[in-house]
Amino acid sequence: MAIYLDNHATTRLDSRVLEAMLPWLTEHYGNAGSATHGMGRLAREKVEEARADFAECIGAEPREIVFTSGATESNNLAILGLAARPGRRSAGTLAQGGHVLTLATEHPAVLDPLEHLERAGCTVTRLPVEPQTGPGVPGRVDLAALAAALTPATFLVSVMLANNEIGTLQEIPAIARIVHAQGALLHVDCAQALGRVPVAVDALGADLASFSGHKFHGPKGVGALYVRRRERVVRLEARQFGGGQERGLRSGTLDVPGLVGMAAAAGVAVAGMGEEVPRLESLRNRLWQRLSARIEGIALNGPKLEDRNARLVNNLNVRVPGIDGQSLLATVANVAAAAGDDLAVSSGSACSSESPRPSHVLLALGLGEDLARASLRFGLSRFTQEEEIDRAAALIARGIDQLRNL
Ligand SMILES: Cc1ncc(COP(=O)(O)O)c(C=O)c1O
Repeated sequence: MAIYLDNHATTRLDSRVLEAMLPWLTEHYGNAGSATHGMGRLAREKVEEARADFAECIGAEPREIVFTSGATESNNLAILGLAARPGRRSAGTLAQGGHVLTLATEHPAVLDPLEHLERAGCTVTRLPVEPQTGPGVPGRVDLAALAAALTPATFLVSVMLANNEIGTLQEIPAIARIVHAQGALLHVDCAQALGRVPVAVDALGADLASFSGHKFHGPKGVGALYVRRRERVVRLEARQFGGGQERGLRSGTLDVPGLVGMAAAAGVAVAGMGEEVPRLESLRNRLWQRLSARIEGIALNGPKLEDRNARLVNNLNVRVPGIDGQSLLATVANVAAAAGDDLAVSSGSACSSESPRPSHVLLALGLGEDLARASLRFGLSRFTQEEEIDRAAALIARGIDQLRNL
Protein backbone atom coordinates (compact mmCIF):
# COMPACT_ATOMS: atom_id res chain seq x y z
CA MET A 1 0.00 0.00 0.00
CA ALA A 2 1.30 3.46 -0.88
CA ILE A 3 0.86 5.80 2.10
CA TYR A 4 1.55 9.39 1.21
CA LEU A 5 1.98 11.63 4.24
CA ASP A 6 4.37 14.15 2.72
CA ASN A 7 1.81 16.71 1.59
CA HIS A 8 3.88 19.69 2.72
CA ALA A 9 6.36 18.73 0.00
CA THR A 10 3.73 18.37 -2.68
CA THR A 11 0.17 17.14 -3.17
CA ARG A 12 -1.61 14.88 -5.59
CA LEU A 13 -3.29 16.55 -8.56
CA ASP A 14 -7.07 16.53 -8.06
CA SER A 15 -8.93 14.89 -10.96
CA ARG A 16 -11.24 17.94 -11.21
CA VAL A 17 -8.15 20.06 -11.75
CA LEU A 18 -6.80 17.74 -14.44
CA GLU A 19 -10.16 17.89 -16.19
CA ALA A 20 -10.07 21.69 -16.21
CA MET A 21 -6.52 21.64 -17.60
CA LEU A 22 -6.86 19.02 -20.34
CA PRO A 23 -8.43 21.10 -23.14
CA TRP A 24 -5.68 23.68 -22.66
CA LEU A 25 -3.01 21.02 -23.04
CA THR A 26 -4.51 19.43 -26.13
CA GLU A 27 -7.02 21.41 -28.19
CA HIS A 28 -6.43 25.02 -27.20
CA TYR A 29 -2.69 25.38 -27.29
CA GLY A 30 -2.44 28.97 -28.47
CA ASN A 31 0.07 31.34 -26.92
CA ALA A 32 -1.73 33.83 -24.66
CA GLY A 33 0.65 36.47 -26.01
CA SER A 34 -0.47 35.99 -29.63
CA ALA A 35 -3.02 38.73 -30.16
CA THR A 36 -3.17 38.32 -33.94
CA HIS A 37 -5.29 35.17 -34.09
CA GLY A 38 -8.25 33.49 -32.43
CA MET A 39 -6.29 30.72 -30.73
CA GLY A 40 -4.06 33.25 -29.03
CA ARG A 41 -6.99 35.42 -28.02
CA LEU A 42 -8.84 32.39 -26.62
CA ALA A 43 -5.82 31.54 -24.48
CA ARG A 44 -5.58 35.15 -23.30
CA GLU A 45 -9.26 35.15 -22.31
CA LYS A 46 -8.74 31.93 -20.36
CA VAL A 47 -5.72 33.38 -18.60
CA GLU A 48 -7.75 36.39 -17.52
CA GLU A 49 -10.57 34.13 -16.34
CA ALA A 50 -8.07 32.11 -14.27
CA ARG A 51 -6.57 35.32 -12.90
CA ALA A 52 -10.01 36.56 -11.80
CA ASP A 53 -10.90 33.18 -10.29
CA PHE A 54 -7.65 32.93 -8.37
CA ALA A 55 -7.89 36.55 -7.20
CA GLU A 56 -11.37 35.89 -5.85
CA CYS A 57 -10.09 32.94 -3.79
CA ILE A 58 -7.74 35.25 -1.86
CA GLY A 59 -9.89 38.38 -1.83
CA ALA A 60 -7.71 40.24 -4.31
CA GLU A 61 -8.38 42.12 -7.53
CA PRO A 62 -7.35 40.39 -10.77
CA ARG A 63 -4.81 43.13 -11.58
CA GLU A 64 -3.04 42.32 -8.31
CA ILE A 65 -2.10 38.79 -9.44
CA VAL A 66 1.22 38.02 -11.18
CA PHE A 67 1.50 34.44 -12.40
CA THR A 68 4.85 32.78 -11.67
CA SER A 69 6.40 29.31 -11.65
CA GLY A 70 5.73 28.72 -7.95
CA ALA A 71 6.29 30.10 -4.48
CA THR A 72 10.08 30.14 -4.86
CA GLU A 73 9.83 32.51 -7.79
CA SER A 74 7.08 34.54 -6.10
CA ASN A 75 9.22 34.98 -2.97
CA ASN A 76 12.26 35.95 -5.03
CA LEU A 77 10.28 38.44 -7.12
CA ALA A 78 8.68 39.97 -4.03
CA ILE A 79 11.94 40.35 -2.10
CA LEU A 80 14.44 41.16 -4.84
CA GLY A 81 11.91 43.13 -6.89
CA LEU A 82 11.02 45.39 -3.97
CA ALA A 83 14.63 45.88 -2.92
CA ALA A 84 15.65 46.87 -6.44
CA ARG A 85 12.88 49.40 -6.95
CA PRO A 86 14.31 52.91 -6.86
CA GLY A 87 12.31 55.21 -4.64
CA ARG A 88 11.57 52.56 -2.09
CA ARG A 89 11.28 53.76 1.46
CA SER A 90 14.86 53.30 2.55
CA ALA A 91 18.06 54.65 1.03
CA GLY A 92 18.01 54.91 -2.77
CA THR A 93 20.13 51.96 -3.80
CA LEU A 94 20.88 48.60 -2.34
CA ALA A 95 24.49 49.44 -1.74
CA GLN A 96 23.37 52.33 0.47
CA GLY A 97 21.72 49.95 2.89
CA GLY A 98 18.10 49.38 3.73
CA HIS A 99 16.85 46.87 6.26
CA VAL A 100 14.73 43.73 5.95
CA LEU A 101 13.22 41.77 8.80
CA THR A 102 12.34 38.09 8.68
CA LEU A 103 12.15 35.01 10.91
CA ALA A 104 14.77 32.33 11.44
CA THR A 105 12.13 29.71 10.56
CA GLU A 106 11.26 30.96 7.05
CA HIS A 107 11.58 28.73 3.99
CA PRO A 108 14.91 28.80 2.10
CA ALA A 109 13.00 30.46 -0.75
CA VAL A 110 12.83 33.53 1.55
CA LEU A 111 16.06 33.15 3.51
CA ASP A 112 18.29 32.64 0.48
CA PRO A 113 17.19 35.70 -1.54
CA LEU A 114 17.61 37.70 1.69
CA GLU A 115 21.14 36.38 2.03
CA HIS A 116 21.71 37.54 -1.54
CA LEU A 117 20.43 41.02 -0.58
CA GLU A 118 22.73 41.03 2.41
CA ARG A 119 25.73 40.41 0.19
CA ALA A 120 24.51 43.31 -1.95
CA GLY A 121 24.54 45.72 0.99
CA CYS A 122 21.21 45.32 2.82
CA THR A 123 20.96 44.65 6.52
CA VAL A 124 18.90 41.57 7.32
CA THR A 125 17.54 40.71 10.76
CA ARG A 126 16.41 37.12 11.31
CA LEU A 127 14.27 37.13 14.43
CA PRO A 128 14.21 34.11 16.74
CA VAL A 129 10.91 32.40 17.49
CA GLU A 130 9.34 31.07 20.68
CA PRO A 131 11.24 27.90 21.66
CA GLN A 132 9.52 24.54 22.08
CA THR A 133 9.86 24.81 25.84
CA GLY A 134 8.82 28.47 26.08
CA PRO A 135 5.62 29.75 27.70
CA GLY A 136 4.18 30.98 24.39
CA VAL A 137 3.29 29.27 21.11
CA PRO A 138 6.31 27.33 19.79
CA GLY A 139 7.57 28.81 16.51
CA ARG A 140 5.77 32.14 16.85
CA VAL A 141 7.54 35.44 16.67
CA ASP A 142 7.10 37.74 19.65
CA LEU A 143 5.24 40.84 18.45
CA ALA A 144 7.03 43.21 20.82
CA ALA A 145 10.39 41.88 19.62
CA LEU A 146 9.29 42.36 16.02
CA ALA A 147 8.20 45.94 16.71
CA ALA A 148 11.48 46.66 18.47
CA ALA A 149 13.52 45.29 15.58
CA LEU A 150 11.99 47.65 13.00
CA THR A 151 14.17 50.63 12.11
CA PRO A 152 13.55 53.72 9.98
CA ALA A 153 15.48 51.90 7.21
CA THR A 154 13.21 48.82 7.27
CA PHE A 155 11.46 48.62 3.90
CA LEU A 156 10.27 45.02 4.05
CA VAL A 157 9.17 42.43 6.58
CA SER A 158 8.76 38.86 5.30
CA VAL A 159 6.87 36.40 7.52
CA MET A 160 5.19 33.17 6.42
CA LEU A 161 1.57 32.50 7.34
CA ALA A 162 1.98 28.76 8.00
CA ASN A 163 5.25 26.99 8.62
CA ASN A 164 5.95 24.05 6.30
CA GLU A 165 7.64 21.92 8.98
CA ILE A 166 5.96 22.54 12.33
CA GLY A 167 2.72 24.14 11.12
CA THR A 168 3.00 27.25 13.30
CA LEU A 169 0.57 29.97 12.19
CA GLN A 170 1.91 33.48 12.68
CA GLU A 171 -0.30 36.35 13.83
CA ILE A 172 -0.16 38.05 10.44
CA PRO A 173 -2.88 40.74 10.91
CA ALA A 174 -1.20 41.97 14.11
CA ILE A 175 2.22 41.86 12.42
CA ALA A 176 0.82 43.85 9.48
CA ARG A 177 -0.43 46.60 11.81
CA ILE A 178 3.01 46.93 13.42
CA VAL A 179 4.82 46.88 10.07
CA HIS A 180 2.51 49.43 8.44
CA ALA A 181 2.71 51.76 11.44
CA GLN A 182 6.44 51.95 10.70
CA GLY A 183 5.80 52.60 7.01
CA ALA A 184 7.32 49.29 5.86
CA LEU A 185 5.67 46.66 3.63
CA LEU A 186 4.72 43.09 4.53
CA HIS A 187 5.37 40.02 2.39
CA VAL A 188 3.60 36.81 3.45
CA ASP A 189 4.60 33.39 2.14
CA CYS A 190 1.21 31.65 1.98
CA ALA A 191 2.44 28.50 0.21
CA GLN A 192 1.23 26.08 2.89
CA ALA A 193 -1.90 27.93 3.90
CA LEU A 194 -4.40 28.04 1.04
CA GLY A 195 -7.31 25.66 1.61
CA ARG A 196 -6.27 25.00 5.21
CA VAL A 197 -6.64 28.40 6.85
CA PRO A 198 -8.57 31.41 5.55
CA VAL A 199 -6.35 33.46 3.25
CA ALA A 200 -7.81 36.89 2.50
CA VAL A 201 -5.16 39.42 1.63
CA ASP A 202 -7.06 42.37 3.15
CA ALA A 203 -7.74 40.60 6.44
CA LEU A 204 -4.10 39.54 6.58
CA GLY A 205 -2.87 43.02 5.73
CA ALA A 206 -0.44 41.59 3.17
CA ASP A 207 1.20 43.86 0.59
CA LEU A 208 2.82 40.92 -1.17
CA ALA A 209 1.83 37.25 -0.86
CA SER A 210 3.22 34.07 -2.44
CA PHE A 211 1.29 30.99 -3.57
CA SER A 212 2.15 27.66 -5.18
CA GLY A 213 -0.27 25.47 -7.16
CA HIS A 214 1.20 22.10 -6.23
CA LYS A 215 0.65 22.67 -2.50
CA PHE A 216 -3.14 22.55 -2.88
CA HIS A 217 -3.68 19.73 -5.40
CA GLY A 218 -2.85 21.83 -8.44
CA PRO A 219 -0.02 21.29 -10.92
CA LYS A 220 3.68 21.79 -10.18
CA GLY A 221 5.62 24.66 -11.70
CA VAL A 222 2.92 27.31 -11.40
CA GLY A 223 2.31 29.87 -8.70
CA ALA A 224 1.24 33.44 -8.10
CA LEU A 225 2.45 36.58 -6.43
CA TYR A 226 -0.14 38.95 -5.01
CA VAL A 227 1.07 42.55 -5.41
CA ARG A 228 -1.12 45.13 -3.69
CA ARG A 229 -2.39 47.90 -5.96
CA ARG A 230 -4.92 49.55 -3.62
CA GLU A 231 -4.25 52.04 -0.79
CA ARG A 232 -0.61 51.04 -0.45
CA VAL A 233 0.44 50.57 -4.08
CA VAL A 234 3.45 48.27 -4.22
CA ARG A 235 5.90 48.77 -7.05
CA LEU A 236 8.35 46.05 -7.96
CA GLU A 237 11.28 45.97 -10.35
CA ALA A 238 11.25 42.98 -12.72
CA ARG A 239 13.89 40.33 -12.11
CA GLN A 240 13.46 38.58 -15.44
CA PHE A 241 13.28 40.24 -18.84
CA GLY A 242 11.93 39.31 -22.27
CA GLY A 243 8.49 39.42 -23.84
CA GLY A 244 7.03 41.73 -21.18
CA GLN A 245 4.28 39.37 -19.99
CA GLU A 246 2.54 39.99 -16.66
CA ARG A 247 2.84 43.78 -16.97
CA GLY A 248 6.54 43.39 -17.61
CA LEU A 249 7.03 41.94 -14.14
CA ARG A 250 7.52 38.37 -15.24
CA SER A 251 8.49 37.86 -18.86
CA GLY A 252 8.01 34.40 -20.31
CA THR A 253 5.24 32.55 -22.17
CA LEU A 254 2.41 31.86 -19.76
CA ASP A 255 1.71 28.24 -18.84
CA VAL A 256 -1.98 28.39 -19.73
CA PRO A 257 -2.93 24.83 -18.65
CA GLY A 258 -0.88 25.24 -15.48
CA LEU A 259 -2.50 28.43 -14.35
CA VAL A 260 -5.96 27.20 -15.33
CA GLY A 261 -5.19 24.21 -13.08
CA MET A 262 -3.94 26.36 -10.23
CA ALA A 263 -7.06 28.55 -10.33
CA ALA A 264 -9.31 25.48 -10.43
CA ALA A 265 -7.39 23.89 -7.55
CA ALA A 266 -7.65 27.05 -5.46
CA GLY A 267 -11.40 27.18 -6.09
CA VAL A 268 -11.88 23.57 -5.00
CA ALA A 269 -9.62 24.05 -1.96
CA VAL A 270 -11.30 27.21 -0.70
CA ALA A 271 -14.85 25.96 -1.34
CA GLY A 272 -14.09 22.67 0.44
CA MET A 273 -12.49 24.09 3.57
CA GLY A 274 -15.61 23.84 5.74
CA GLU A 275 -15.71 20.07 5.31
CA GLU A 276 -12.02 19.42 4.90
CA VAL A 277 -10.58 21.24 7.91
CA PRO A 278 -12.37 19.20 10.61
CA ARG A 279 -11.66 15.97 8.70
CA LEU A 280 -7.93 16.75 8.47
CA GLU A 281 -7.83 17.77 12.10
CA SER A 282 -9.40 14.54 13.23
CA LEU A 283 -7.07 12.41 11.08
CA ARG A 284 -4.02 14.36 12.24
CA ASN A 285 -5.07 13.95 15.90
CA ARG A 286 -5.63 10.24 15.31
CA LEU A 287 -2.10 9.92 13.95
CA TRP A 288 -0.69 11.60 17.05
CA GLN A 289 -2.81 9.39 19.35
CA ARG A 290 -1.67 6.24 17.57
CA LEU A 291 2.00 7.25 17.62
CA SER A 292 2.01 8.42 21.22
CA ALA A 293 0.24 5.27 22.39
CA ARG A 294 2.95 3.06 20.86
CA ILE A 295 6.16 5.04 21.07
CA GLU A 296 7.54 5.77 24.49
CA GLY A 297 8.91 9.26 25.01
CA ILE A 298 7.65 10.62 21.68
CA ALA A 299 7.00 14.37 21.81
CA LEU A 300 5.39 17.01 19.69
CA ASN A 301 7.40 19.64 17.80
CA GLY A 302 5.52 22.88 17.29
CA PRO A 303 2.26 24.21 18.79
CA LYS A 304 -0.25 22.12 20.75
CA LEU A 305 -2.68 20.26 18.51
CA GLU A 306 -5.71 21.67 20.29
CA ASP A 307 -4.53 25.24 19.67
CA ARG A 308 -6.44 25.65 16.40
CA ASN A 309 -5.38 29.23 15.84
CA ALA A 310 -1.74 28.34 16.18
CA ARG A 311 -1.22 25.23 14.09
CA LEU A 312 -1.96 24.09 10.55
CA VAL A 313 -4.63 21.37 10.68
CA ASN A 314 -2.83 18.95 8.35
CA ASN A 315 0.55 19.12 10.07
CA LEU A 316 2.21 16.87 12.63
CA ASN A 317 5.88 16.92 13.62
CA VAL A 318 7.30 14.63 16.29
CA ARG A 319 10.64 13.85 17.90
CA VAL A 320 11.75 10.54 19.33
CA PRO A 321 14.45 10.90 21.98
CA GLY A 322 17.10 8.25 22.31
CA ILE A 323 17.31 7.01 18.74
CA ASP A 324 19.86 7.51 15.99
CA GLY A 325 18.11 10.14 13.90
CA GLN A 326 20.51 9.61 10.99
CA SER A 327 18.98 6.17 10.39
CA LEU A 328 15.37 7.07 11.21
CA LEU A 329 13.98 7.62 7.72
CA ALA A 330 15.89 4.72 6.18
CA THR A 331 14.78 2.34 8.96
CA VAL A 332 11.13 3.37 8.63
CA ALA A 333 11.35 3.00 4.84
CA ASN A 334 12.88 -0.48 5.21
CA VAL A 335 10.24 -1.62 7.67
CA ALA A 336 7.52 -0.35 5.31
CA ALA A 337 9.12 -2.04 2.30
CA ALA A 338 9.39 -5.35 4.20
CA ALA A 339 5.63 -5.11 4.83
CA GLY A 340 5.00 -4.40 1.15
CA ASP A 341 4.25 -0.73 1.80
CA ASP A 342 5.72 2.50 0.57
CA LEU A 343 5.52 5.14 3.27
CA ALA A 344 6.19 8.76 2.32
CA VAL A 345 7.18 10.87 5.33
CA SER A 346 10.08 13.26 5.76
CA SER A 347 12.33 14.85 8.30
CA GLY A 348 11.91 18.41 7.12
CA SER A 349 11.35 20.46 4.01
CA ALA A 350 11.74 18.65 0.70
CA CYS A 351 14.45 21.02 -0.39
CA SER A 352 16.62 20.08 2.58
CA SER A 353 15.74 16.41 3.00
CA GLU A 354 18.73 15.30 0.94
CA SER A 355 21.17 17.34 2.95
CA PRO A 356 22.62 15.85 6.11
CA ARG A 357 22.05 19.06 8.09
CA PRO A 358 19.26 18.99 10.67
CA SER A 359 16.24 21.23 10.06
CA HIS A 360 16.92 24.93 10.68
CA VAL A 361 13.31 25.24 11.86
CA LEU A 362 13.73 22.63 14.60
CA LEU A 363 17.07 24.12 15.63
CA ALA A 364 15.33 27.52 15.88
CA LEU A 365 12.83 25.89 18.27
CA GLY A 366 15.80 25.13 20.51
CA LEU A 367 16.08 21.42 19.75
CA GLY A 368 19.60 20.02 19.76
CA GLU A 369 20.99 18.56 16.54
CA ASP A 370 20.34 14.98 17.65
CA LEU A 371 16.68 15.60 18.48
CA ALA A 372 16.19 17.65 15.32
CA ARG A 373 17.47 14.67 13.32
CA ALA A 374 15.31 12.27 15.31
CA SER A 375 12.16 14.07 14.12
CA LEU A 376 9.51 13.22 11.56
CA ARG A 377 7.23 15.55 9.65
CA PHE A 378 3.78 14.50 8.44
CA GLY A 379 1.53 16.40 6.06
CA LEU A 380 -2.02 15.13 5.47
CA SER A 381 -4.31 15.94 2.57
CA ARG A 382 -7.77 15.62 1.11
CA PHE A 383 -6.80 12.13 -0.10
CA THR A 384 -5.52 10.82 3.24
CA GLN A 385 -7.58 7.92 4.61
CA GLU A 386 -7.98 6.59 8.14
CA GLU A 387 -6.44 3.21 7.31
CA GLU A 388 -3.32 4.96 6.00
CA ILE A 389 -2.97 6.78 9.30
CA ASP A 390 -3.26 3.57 11.31
CA ARG A 391 -0.89 1.68 9.05
CA ALA A 392 1.68 4.49 9.05
CA ALA A 393 1.62 4.71 12.85
CA ALA A 394 2.14 0.93 13.15
CA LEU A 395 5.04 0.95 10.68
CA ILE A 396 6.76 3.89 12.35
CA ALA A 397 6.37 2.31 15.80
CA ARG A 398 7.93 -0.89 14.45
CA GLY A 399 10.82 1.06 12.90
CA ILE A 400 11.48 2.85 16.17
CA ASP A 401 11.41 -0.41 18.10
CA GLN A 402 14.04 -1.71 15.71
CA LEU A 403 16.23 1.36 16.20
CA ARG A 404 15.90 1.13 19.97
CA ASN A 405 16.78 -2.54 19.98
CA LEU A 406 20.01 -1.98 18.10
C1 LIG B 1 6.49 27.84 2.86
C2 LIG B 1 7.03 27.52 1.50
N1 LIG B 1 7.49 28.50 0.72
C3 LIG B 1 7.95 28.26 -0.51
C4 LIG B 1 8.00 26.99 -1.04
C5 LIG B 1 8.52 26.77 -2.42
O1 LIG B 1 7.44 26.54 -3.28
P1 LIG B 1 7.61 26.03 -4.79
O2 LIG B 1 7.83 24.57 -4.71
O3 LIG B 1 6.33 26.39 -5.43
O4 LIG B 1 8.75 26.78 -5.38
C6 LIG B 1 7.53 25.93 -0.25
C7 LIG B 1 7.61 24.54 -0.74
O5 LIG B 1 8.23 23.70 -0.14
C8 LIG B 1 7.03 26.20 1.04
O6 LIG B 1 6.58 25.23 1.83
